[in-house]
Amino acid sequence: MRILLPLLAVLLPLPALSASPPAPIGTGGAVASADPLATAVGLETLRAGGNAVDAAVATALALAVVYPEAGNLGGGGFAVLRMGGDLAALDFRETAPARARRDMYLDPQGKPVENASLVGPLAAGVPGSPAGLFELHRRYGRLPWQRVIAPAQRLASQGFRVSRYLHEVLDKEENRKLLLRFPETSKVWLSEGKPPAVGSVLRLPDLAATLDRYAAGGPGAIATGAVAAAVEKASQEHGGVLTAADLAAYRPVWRTPLTFEAFGWKLASMPLPSSGGVILGQTLGMLERREWDKLPRFGADRDHLLAEALRRSFADRFLLGDPATTKATEAQLLAPEWIARRSEQIDPRHATPSVQVEPWPGAARTEAPAASGETTHLSVVDREGNLVALTTTLNGLFGCGLWVPGAGFFLNNEMDDFATVLGKPNLFGLVQGEANAVAPGKRMLSSMNPLIAWKGQEAYALGGRGGSRIPTNTLQVMLNLLVDGDSLQAALDRPRLHHQWLPDRLDAEPDALSPETRAELERRGHTIQISAVTAKIHAVHLLPDGRVEAASDSRGSGAGGVVDPE
Ligand code: DON
Repeated sequence: MRILLPLLAVLLPLPALSASPPAPIGTGGAVASADPLATAVGLETLRAGGNAVDAAVATALALAVVYPEAGNLGGGGFAVLRMGGDLAALDFRETAPARARRDMYLDPQGKPVENASLVGPLAAGVPGSPAGLFELHRRYGRLPWQRVIAPAQRLASQGFRVSRYLHEVLDKEENRKLLLRFPETSKVWLSEGKPPAVGSVLRLPDLAATLDRYAAGGPGAIATGAVAAAVEKASQEHGGVLTAADLAAYRPVWRTPLTFEAFGWKLASMPLPSSGGVILGQTLGMLERREWDKLPRFGADRDHLLAEALRRSFADRFLLGDPATTKATEAQLLAPEWIARRSEQIDPRHATPSVQVEPWPGAARTEAPAASGETTHLSVVDREGNLVALTTTLNGLFGCGLWVPGAGFFLNNEMDDFATVLGKPNLFGLVQGEANAVAPGKRMLSSMNPLIAWKGQEAYALGGRGGSRIPTNTLQVMLNLLVDGDSLQAALDRPRLHHQWLPDRLDAEPDALSPETRAELERRGHTIQISAVTAKIHAVHLLPDGRVEAASDSRGSGAGGVVDPE
């Protein structure tokens, strides 16, 4: 038996996989998001004749009501879409306010002020979601704007039933601490110190009024007038620098998606200012060169190679920032010669210490790396095979913690995604460089990677939340699907690993490594930490025969659903 066990560990799927139920399959489109009410809104929009963009925007707006930890009007995000023959990417990432300065999170002695880039409106970038969601719809939507926004208006004005998940997340000690700092916030979310009861109906009148304005006047109705004034006032009262003028000046940007091929599939993901697409492209390039797919599915060889490839991709992330100012370009970092060199450097038997893995040498560096959240994703496919992968965020749970009265939304704390202090790890432990220093109007570097993959008639849209874990986890789900042919739900549920160069550590979910594999990885030089903190991925699948399916990560509280189920 003792001899058989390692063999069984290699041959048999890990326990989490066998427990995965089949994803729902239908013929009229599919939606997966972090909240069942929001998924229902997406499906309702598809049923009403909306296309994938209508449904994605309606779902995102519903999340802004029922999923306040991450759904938002006061944050930003990215969308990658395949609409008809178009492949497009919208950047509605927040920007630094005009009064932001590179040393704004330092005290007069040059020391970092604790939590300054995380708590309170000084941590807030200029929200991109109102203009971004509107722009997505303006260019690609089919239903009238008012029809797309109506379900969110209804949820905010008539109210929605508080889920156990929402109740519990509001009641968590660290969230309570943040939310109770701001009387404006606690009045709505922790009135008398308690979150709304499970099953009670919660109405959000300020948000309903803002959505009414947005429905009638588009993003200008949020970026100017009473709502913008409310944002400026709340920001000023709590030491922020965000102004109504910042809101009025914000513009989303259409960008060319990064496309690459791997394991016989074509993929499209987000370019800068997200590092997500570059990390995916580089890592896949290395894995393909080293024939990762030919290695045994479970065991140290694949895990080692994955960790070594991620270590190298994240080293190059150090060079990235807003594409308007960054020196290293995606083309340089994704060049076949560079990926070949990187992959040749991987020693199949030994982990390379991260201190020996330098970022791409072609870019000017002004400082050496130190030695040593909340986001939500949704995926939609419509009956015509159009696909949207959209990730939106406030950064940390409930952003900076300030719920703006008279506006009815949380402000983000996305400024922490900048290298607020060069070389100091951020909320996700990422060590970042000069390219990502704070400057007025600049977009902070992200790790989000809404992704579309296709081969012939078959396609997937997926992505997730989890800060630096987003690209590493999206990648593994994708490999489960594209290389190993897992069913959709099983691909999401399988335990995952994470490596981000610094800290030099391989994080593993509790069931990700058998004892033998763990021992072998440690023998090769990996420091392993078992960690339940990870990303949550949501995906839809267009099958070759035109049917669709949707699945939501079993680690979260979301739901996948389909129109016209079988
Ligand atoms: O843009 C980024 O990379 C981060 N602000 C994402 C934050 C996130 O995923 C938090 N979720 N747990």
